[in-house]
Amino acid sequence: MRIEDLKKEFIKIYGEGEIRVFHSPGRVNLIGEHIDYNGGYVFPCALDFGTYGLVRKRKDNIINLASTNFSKRVSAKLYNIEYKEEDDWGNYLKGVIAFLLNEGYKVEGMDILISGNIPNGAGLSSSASIEVLMGVIIDELFNQGRINRVQLIKLCQRAENEFIGVNCGIMDQFSIGMGKKDKAILLNCDTLEFKYADFKLAEHTLIIMNTNKRRALSESKYNERRMECEEGLQEIKVHKEIDNLCSLSEEDYKTVEVLLKKENVRNRVKHVVYENERVKKAFIFLNEGNMEGFGELLTESHISLRDLYEVTGIELDTMVELSLNCKGCIGARMTGAGFGGCVIALVEKDKAEEFMKYVKEKYEDRIGYEPSFYLSGVGDGTKEC
Ligand code: GLA
Repeated sequence: MRIEDLKKEFIKIYGEGEIRVFHSPGRVNLIGEHIDYNGGYVFPCALDFGTYGLVRKRKDNIINLASTNFSKRVSAKLYNIEYKEEDDWGNYLKGVIAFLLNEGYKVEGMDILISGNIPNGAGLSSSASIEVLMGVIIDELFNQGRINRVQLIKLCQRAENEFIGVNCGIMDQFSIGMGKKDKAILLNCDTLEFKYADFKLAEHTLIIMNTNKRRALSESKYNERRMECEEGLQEIKVHKEIDNLCSLSEEDYKTVEVLLKKENVRNRVKHVVYENERVKKAFIFLNEGNMEGFGELLTESHISLRDLYEVTGIELDTMVELSLNCKGCIGARMTGAGFGGCVIALVEKDKAEEFMKYVKEKYEDRIGYEPSFYLSGVGDGTKEC
């Protein structure tokens, strides 16, 4: 929907008056998967599509939430906010409001209309997008834009962990809150130090492909992987003083490998250590304009996520295999948590049409339903429009 249409919708629901409009992107991770909760480097960027939030202050303590994506409306009283199953999508916003209030930030009544363009369950972070959207709205409306952005991002992550109950790392909220047009973000998830890298592709284009596989098991498997990493860390710690798995180099890994008794744990740790190294190389290659080298790292990352971390599945693997069959594709990998969701591929610009036609046809033949394609640029982080 266009902004003008969204404003009309807002007026239909809440009546005439001033309306402020905010936008929060989705994100895609270029490389560095299942690394954020292991204290290493990730390399995501914000997309140029995401979630709009239209808002107006109220004079009382009521928060009204409506969405163009869901029919469910939610109403809550400030100072009395709790998780309610039936509030569904509204819980993501309520969580952020509750946590900001708890930290002593000013929040008053609001009428809000949300409208999202990020497909749910695609692994492009629709939930982090609305969380950071809510955080930035509260910052701009009631706190003069003075809330430190990184603090706000951490708070949104905590809301997702503790209010929603999803144990995600910091990557999604960070890339959405700190995104910049045409830049990817190299983020150290241990220290939260970060650097921007130009991500303006000259001869290539980044194609995002949704397997359209529902991510049924993903949450429990995600937590299982986190636990396996924790188990590996504890085993290594008995012999070597480290804070997180990403403080190990490839050389270190070779010396601690024998300490890891279970094969699955050993594989998870190996993925984490080598993936973290790949991210550092990817940053260098991108800055040097070595796109071939960058593309190869993407493919290596996928293979490691498939064979060592075991978070892919037939849909993601088929999509990557078909992508790599195509002339002009220099690298492809799953992105996000895995088990479903999206694949990214780097493809020569003039071959992109042919590429999508081939992958679509073959994927449908093999899997039985169509994939979706998104040609997104790299957009800005959450802000007022
Ligand atoms: C999900 C989580 C992130 C991150 C990725 C895997 O998107 O929300 O924090 O762990 O999976 O890299």
